[in-house]
Amino acid sequence: MKKSEDRPAAGKKRVLSGMRPTGPLHLGHLLGALSNWVRLQDEYECFYMVADWHALMSEYAEPAPVRGYVRGIVADWLAAGLDPERSAIFLQSEVPEHAELHLVLSMFTPLPWLERCPTYKEQLQEITGRDLMTYGFLGYPVLQAADILLYRAECVPVGKDQLPHLELTREIARRFNNFTREIFPEPSALLARAPKLPGLDNRKMSKSYGNYISLSDPPEQVVKKVRTMITDPARVRLRDPGHPEVCNVFNYHGIFSPGEIGEIEKLCRSAGIGCTACKDRLSAKLTELLEPLQRRRAEWIEGDRIERVLAEGAARARAAAVETMREVKNALGW
Ligand code: TRP
Ligand code: SF4
Repeated sequence: MKKSEDRPAAGKKRVLSGMRPTGPLHLGHLLGALSNWVRLQDEYECFYMVADWHALMSEYAEPAPVRGYVRGIVADWLAAGLDPERSAIFLQSEVPEHAELHLVLSMFTPLPWLERCPTYKEQLQEITGRDLMTYGFLGYPVLQAADILLYRAECVPVGKDQLPHLELTREIARRFNNFTREIFPEPSALLARAPKLPGLDNRKMSKSYGNYISLSDPPEQVVKKVRTMITDPARVRLRDPGHPEVCNVFNYHGIFSPGEIGEIEKLCRSAGIGCTACKDRLSAKLTELLEPLQRRRAEWIEGDRIERVLAEGAARARAAAVETMREVKNALGW
């Protein structure tokens, strides 16, 4: 495969990933994606993007809040340890080449590939209250392919739900390469090994269910939310022995206080602790985890630090993107 000139001398592989700014970041993002992104910086040249065009696809009828989420998300990224010195942290719409490559790739993408994509059908059913029968929504994975291929990223950290999009990206890359020449590497997914964190109500943690603890929730809010969690329904009175295996609070303890899980199990089974006390113990753990993050977040959010990170990130991203587009146009004879 042809190596392009803009690769760093150290020959680090490239990573690209993105998040849609449709709400504040929560514990699920931290565990499932963000901590992994932070780790990857040691080994890869990383591009991390706020995918605001992707958000527009579902939020086009009411786009204003999307813009409002961007700053907070980037502040959470930085607070969690994304390092703007090492990684390009940027806003998708500030690199217009995403739209340009999306257009080119859309010409090469057979319609049935998109109609067949399992996430397309699922999301049409899952996301209610908006009209998603749009051209842009069908093309969502093509824009995602453009995001990845624009940086010729070899690795893409994503959750399992995104695997069909990654497969499509590989197929689109292969098809483009076959028609023109070898421009795009076929990227592979880096699946996080983190445990899945269910929402407070045992359903999937999601903004639309409002069942999450956000990274910027103050301690009182954490306590309040954790108190709403459903425990073992068989424990009506304090002296009823509990069944931790059916309790989501216990599940959370396993993730956030693994060292204390044996003790909590014993206390629960012997009715040695009440559910409220057990929940407050979890809240204390969560607050301990969030406190330093929130402290760093407050520092990042001051003045125009976020804006400066995004401007610098966009400049770095653009340099790589322009180079790829030059090669794409060359290959097309444009
Ligand atoms: N579709 C991704 C999601 O909903 C977000 C995303 C947009 C993305 N572009 C990307 C992820 C490129 C990885 C690579 O989570
Ligand atoms: Fe769940 Fe804790 Fe109550 Fe046991 S004591 S049922 S683990 S909340």
